[in-house]
Amino acid sequence: MPLPGADVDRSYEVLVGCGVINQLDEMLRSLIPAPRRVALVSQPSIEVEVSISLPVHRFAVGVGEQFKTIATVQELCEGFADAGLTRGDVVVAVGGGMVTDVAGFAAASYHRGISVVHVPTTLLGMIDAAIGGKTGVNLPQGKNLVGAFWQPSGVICDLDTLATLPEREVRCGNGEMAKYHFLTGDDLAALDLEARVARCVEIKAEVVASDERESGRRAILNYGHTLAHALEIASGHEIAHGEAVSIGLIFAARLAERLGRIDSARVAEHLDVVGCLYGLQTDIPHVGSADELLALMFRDKKAIDGLTFVLDGPNGVELVADIDPAIVRDVLVEALQD
Ligand code: GLY
Repeated sequence: MPLPGADVDRSYEVLVGCGVINQLDEMLRSLIPAPRRVALVSQPSIEVEVSISLPVHRFAVGVGEQFKTIATVQELCEGFADAGLTRGDVVVAVGGGMVTDVAGFAAASYHRGISVVHVPTTLLGMIDAAIGGKTGVNLPQGKNLVGAFWQPSGVICDLDTLATLPEREVRCGNGEMAKYHFLTGDDLAALDLEARVARCVEIKAEVVASDERESGRRAILNYGHTLAHALEIASGHEIAHGEAVSIGLIFAARLAERLGRIDSARVAEHLDVVGCLYGLQTDIPHVGSADELLALMFRDKKAIDGLTFVLDGPNGVELVADIDPAIVRDVLVEALQD
């Protein structure tokens, strides 16, 4: 007997293009049930204007990873309650991944879940954080350890918001974008920015639709992320996520080659995309010894079975568990000597 809620349609519209932010009001008005009010969550530093014809309550979250906390979510939910918001209202998150993650988690939790529409203003937000329903906050013990899967009711990726992104933010977005070049057979390099962002969104949506709760295939979206997370932690977060992913992609390719899963031509393709197309770092910076990085990789969330990586291979990119730590260490030592 199907239980209520077991077959819920969680599809949603994603608009990608220049100027599409002007369609936010129409998107909000077309939601079912139609919201009566909007909780607009953003950051003071984000100068992106939205035009909304419904009554709007504004909420600001602090800038920086230190504000990605349960305390921030509590503050938001208290603000929603003070404003008398109900399940008939909608949260609109305008900002980068930090804003959509925190506002999404507040939306998932308030009144046990109200609608949320994401308006990502960074490349990384558009192609990753705002798509797929992962929301959450950090604990002192680690990043994103508390959260919920909560699909948005719509996403608006207005490429005009990227025009003023600081160079480092662009690098971070490109690091995550480079990953998509290896997840399918698509020639993403042949596409212009709008088509490339749209294709990355489609690839992510297709993977998430096949495994929303990450019981298997969704893990391929973490290609390059195992070493990346270790580098972020070892550097005390001096290396940003997207920057670390570019380095992690090259390391994953070298490890896959050592394990006989891909050949040197495929490693060269990784170097072309990451180093040449996007101009990103490919060498591992000296933020920790091979043993320190190895220990951090053992603590990765994916590592249910020994040392686990997402690796390229004859069947494409897939999760590979229980990899011999000595081989990983050798590849690390060699890479650190380069
Ligand atoms: N950022 C990886 C995922 O959404 O699963």
